[in-house]
Amino acid sequence: MSEIIKNEIPKVLWHAYGTDQLATGVMAYMAGNDVVLDRELFVYDIKGTQAHLLGLCKINMISDKELLQFNVVLDELARLYKNDQFHLDDRFEDGHSAIEFYLTEKLGDLGKKAHTGRSRNDQVLTCLRLYMLDQMTTVKAHAIETIDVLLEMAESHQQTMMPGYTHLQRAMPTTVAVWLLGFVESLLDDVEHLNGVMKLLDASPLGTAAGFGVPLPLARYETAEVMGFSRVQINPVSAQNSRGKYELMCLQSLSYLLLDVRRFAWDLSLFMTSEFDFIQMACSHTTGSSIMPNKNNPDVVELMRASLSVVDGAAHQIQSLLSLPSGYQRDLQLSKEPLLKGIKMTQSTLALLPDLLKVLTFKANNMHKAVTPEMMATDQALHKVKQGQSFRDAYLDSKQDEDLIISAEQSIADRVSLGGAANLGLGLLRERVASL
Ligand code: ARG
Repeated sequence: MSEIIKNEIPKVLWHAYGTDQLATGVMAYMAGNDVVLDRELFVYDIKGTQAHLLGLCKINMISDKELLQFNVVLDELARLYKNDQFHLDDRFEDGHSAIEFYLTEKLGDLGKKAHTGRSRNDQVLTCLRLYMLDQMTTVKAHAIETIDVLLEMAESHQQTMMPGYTHLQRAMPTTVAVWLLGFVESLLDDVEHLNGVMKLLDASPLGTAAGFGVPLPLARYETAEVMGFSRVQINPVSAQNSRGKYELMCLQSLSYLLLDVRRFAWDLSLFMTSEFDFIQMACSHTTGSSIMPNKNNPDVVELMRASLSVVDGAAHQIQSLLSLPSGYQRDLQLSKEPLLKGIKMTQSTLALLPDLLKVLTFKANNMHKAVTPEMMATDQALHKVKQGQSFRDAYLDSKQDEDLIISAEQSIADRVSLGGAANLGLGLLRERVASL
């Protein structure tokens, strides 16, 4: 690091005023751990800076040659950063000032042109937007991988019978495939919701500056395009007001995924108890106890169940922050930490889920045994209906019946309406996956 940086690092970008007048602790209070959080955002900030410079070149604020010089240095900075040779730490107020410092360090006076027509307000919006979209794309890929594994499992468990529960009481016979596909369809909904939020976030705030635009003909379409945005966020006040709100939407879209993961994890942890004994999980994903040699615990499943609490907590933290007037307020800086925390939690949970599913084995005999004869009472009633009885009479008769003549196998085979055990709609679900 020492060989890379020669000049003294100014503590703040607005150093005309210096930091000397600031009371002790004020600078540290304002910076908080922003610079540490910016480690996640740094590469996106570099990308946004490159787009901004391209825009400045388009309107002849810098020359083609200068743009090239900027890009060489920014590419180098990104490379050094990725190789752990440039460290973002409390020598800098934040990632933005580190970029500007590095440009000036390497390019001298030219570096001082980089912030022309840009504010840290649209800079931070831009890099957060790029970050969120990138992370949501990864989350989406994990979710689709999970859906694919669940679909495969469902395909091979079309005949694996299990009790269906309502109120956690035995209700009707069903199959493992029906149970698993329940999560597939829910996750499909979640990914579609995620797509919707991503579409909304897919808009460039760059060029809105501090929230009022700038007296320059900025090339907003071009900068949006080079960063891969589909549209431009038009109004500068709206761009500022979307800070925090878009973060909230992002976290909410992740929370739907984790809500379904939570329900699935709940079922797994129940089905893995000795009381149910329906499912076994390989020791690659279970843990022992420090005191009880007999234990084989589903800690991973439980942490997956708990992950939603982190994302919900993060969303709530941002929501309570958003009680603000319009425009930029420094309060918004505090939306960064919960956003990063929520995204990381979602990523780590969903990244592990496909492999966890692959090490589950279903104890088909135990599941079948738990499908007890009284669970066919509805089948019996409907059998009587087919013979001409009204449903209510057949229902009351079947309640008294000692001998239920419909077998569990028959009950499963008869569930022929769409979505039922004998008509799973696998093709339709696969079509929906392909359309995501
Ligand atoms: N760290 C700041 C944030 O996240 C960057 C923007 C600072 N803008 C300002 N006007 N003070 O909001």
